[in-house]
Formats: sequence, structure tokens, C-alpha cells
Amino acid sequence: MAKPVSIEVWNPSGKYRVVSTKPMPGTRWIRLLTDQDCRVEICTEKKTILSVEDILSLIGNKCDGVIGQLTEDWGEVLFSMLRRAGGKAFSNMAVGYNNVVVGAANKYGIAVGNTPGVLTETTAELAASLSLAASRRIVEADQFMRAGLYDGWLPHLFVGNLLKGQTVGVIGAGRIGSAYARMMIEGFKMNLIYYDLYQATRLENFVTAYGEFLKANGEQPVTWKRASSMEDVLREADVISLHPVLDKTTYHLINKERLAIMKKEAILVNASRGPVIDEAALVEHLKQNPMFRVGLDVFEDEPFMKPGLADMKNAVVVPHIASASKWTREGMATLAALNVLGKIKGYPIWSDPNRIESFLDENSVPPAACPSIVNAKELGLSKL
Ligand SMILES: NC(=O)c1ccc[n+]([C@@H]2O[C@H](COP(=O)([O-])OP(=O)(O)OC[C@H]3O[C@@H](n4cnc5c(N)ncnc54)[C@H](O)[C@@H]3O)[C@@H](O)[C@H]2O)c1
Repeated sequence: MAKPVSIEVWNPSGKYRVVSTKPMPGTRWIRLLTDQDCRVEICTEKKTILSVEDILSLIGNKCDGVIGQLTEDWGEVLFSMLRRAGGKAFSNMAVGYNNVVVGAANKYGIAVGNTPGVLTETTAELAASLSLAASRRIVEADQFMRAGLYDGWLPHLFVGNLLKGQTVGVIGAGRIGSAYARMMIEGFKMNLIYYDLYQATRLENFVTAYGEFLKANGEQPVTWKRASSMEDVLREADVISLHPVLDKTTYHLINKERLAIMKKEAILVNASRGPVIDEAALVEHLKQNPMFRVGLDVFEDEPFMKPGLADMKNAVVVPHIASASKWTREGMATLAALNVLGKIKGYPIWSDPNRIESFLDENSVPPAACPSIVNAKELGLSKL
């Protein structure tokens, strides 16, 4: 028997019961649900990561939909229970859904939502911040200052890497990878090399046009190259940022052998998912190569770091905050709520999950559609 968990209830007399496994930023998402006859129950348990048992208890006997988090294991157990409780929809409050067994959701006819687009720029900005922090040794220098060690300017003090004119490597040039590439190209005039399974035509066209603009202004133009293998990116780039989805093809994409082919003074950034890097191999590489630096937002066994990583001065580490801007987090909550609401109401699926702005305008009623359902095709759901 699952134990009870503490909850906060909005609109107790609502017809549809929607559960959120965490309090989420903003209040618009709650209002959008309660305005449409939903009773909203928000789990207020203090523990950070809810177990499957906790979530079973939240689902209970009647539940129309759940908004959940990337730290939760959504598989056979939870989807079968949600189905039994009359549920129709689950939405992650995240764009990635490697914590969800979509096949299990399909089996029970549950729609799985995610929140693309709204976190693209915010996540790319964090990857850019980590790139700068690692290349200019900001965290090391900050710690040095606070420790009272600064006793005057020195020619060798915290010398790092110049970005201008260097090459930025992007692995996974989708929404976030492309936005990050643009920031580094526009901001620091870096040249681009990228690797993706698909051609990033819009990004290529942008770099070409920007290069022509620079040339017309008498500046050194920027260039781009689509690499035919990931190894080419690792060999050539001075700063490499990882932005693929996490799946079987990208698990431990960066391993001991691939670290070994990177430049000795390269910067590696990961704001995708922790298991994309073999973290134990990375710790060894950082120990052997003090001029190699990393900026990490995500870790292989969150919330833990592999032994030794916390001691490495050449690593900048932050606790999975890439999407943590107020606008983005409130928007993620809105999209997740509208995914669940839309499926409960039988709305069609929004035709382009990359263009979700109309759901985020606080001053208008959102479209009667689910913004992004990843298994719409498998469930035979119609598009707007
Ligand atoms: N750290 C965070 O807080 C945070 C926030 C948002 C997203 N993310 C992660 O970022 C990922 C990317 O998000 P997005 O919105 O840009 O997704 P996206 O689908 O637009 O881009 C992912 C890209 O990865 C490419 N890809 C897939 N397999 C690959 C492989 N084997 N090698 C090279 N490229 C490959 C795809 O072709 C695609 O272009 C998400 O799946 C999520 O895991 C993390």
C-alpha cells in the first residue's frame, strides 16, 4: 500500500483531476487548468526526487492527467496505474524525455508531452556561460579572490583561452545546439564545425550570411563545416558543446578514446544529459590534462558526481540549471499543463512543436491544442 504524500489543492470541485508531482514556477499554468474545470493537486513533499511508490500514491484511484519531472521513472508501472485511474495524459516539464518509456505509454494509450522551444535560448545561454567560465577560468579566479590570495596583477595569473577566431564544435545541432552555435559565432566570431545526423541548413545559411556581412565590413569572415564524423569535430574544435538527445546512440558518446583525440587545451561543455559523457573517463582525463577544461550542467548519476570530479580545478560544475530562467520555467509549466489539458479535452495536436509562442502569450487565450505530444503518431492523434 503506497503511503500518502502531502498535496496542495486548487479548485477542489473541478471535474478533471490533474496532478503535478512538483510545485512549478508561476501561476498561469494553474489558472489555465482551473479555468477549464480541472481540480489541480500539487505535491508539496519536501524530498527532491519522488519514488515510483510516491507517484503511485499521488495518482490514486482517479486521475485524468499528470505533469511530472525528468527525475522520475515513467514506465510500465506508472503508466498502467495511470490508465487504471482513467488517465489520458502525462507531460514531462522538460524537452528531453529519456526518463519516459514511451512504448509503455503507447501500450496504455497515454499521451506523452514535452516542452520544446521555450527552453532553447535559456539553455543555450547557459552552455555559452559555461564555455566562457571554463575558457577564462572564472570560477577558479573567483575562489582565489575570496580566499584572499590576490596580492597584485601578474602576467601569468589565470591565463585562459581566447575565443575569437577559434573553432566552436557543436555535437547535436538541433534547436539548442544551433542557438548555442549562433551565440558563439555572433558573439565571439568563432568558426563552426558541427556533427549531427541531419543537415542544419538554417544554421549553415545563417553563418554564410553572417560571414558575408563581416567581410563587407572589412572584418575576418566566419566559416562553417558539417563534419562527416564526430571525431572530426573533436579533433578540430577548440570549444565543443554537446547538445544531442540522450538515447542508445549517444550514451557515453564522449569516452576515453574520444577524449584522447581532443586538443590538450580544448574546452568541453555539456548541458544535454549526463550519460552522454563517460564521467569516470572524464575525471581521469582532467587529471592527466590540467589545461583541458570542462563546463558541466549535467552528470551521469545525478545528483552525484563521480569520485574526484569535485576536486578538479579545471571543471566548472553547476546543478542542472540550464533551463532555469524565470520566463522559461514558467513557460515550461504552461506547455506541460496545456499538453495534459489538451488531451483531456480531446484537442488536436499543434502542428509544429518548434513554434509554440502562441501558447506563451500571457495576454491571450492559448490555442485549443496540445503544444507537443511525442507519441501523437503512435496513438493516431490528429494534428491541427
Ligand atoms: N541541461 C538542461 O537543463 C537541458 C535543457 C533542455 C534540453 N536539454 C537536453 O538537450 C537535448 C536537446 O534539446 P533540443 O531541444 O535541442 O532537441 P533537438 O531534438 O532539437 O536536437 C537534438 C539534436 O541531436 C541530434 N542527434 C540525435 N542523435 C545524435 C547522434 N547520435 N549524434 C549527433 N547528433 C544527434 C538530432 O538529430 C537533433 O538535431 C534534449 O533532448 C535534452 O536532453 C537539457
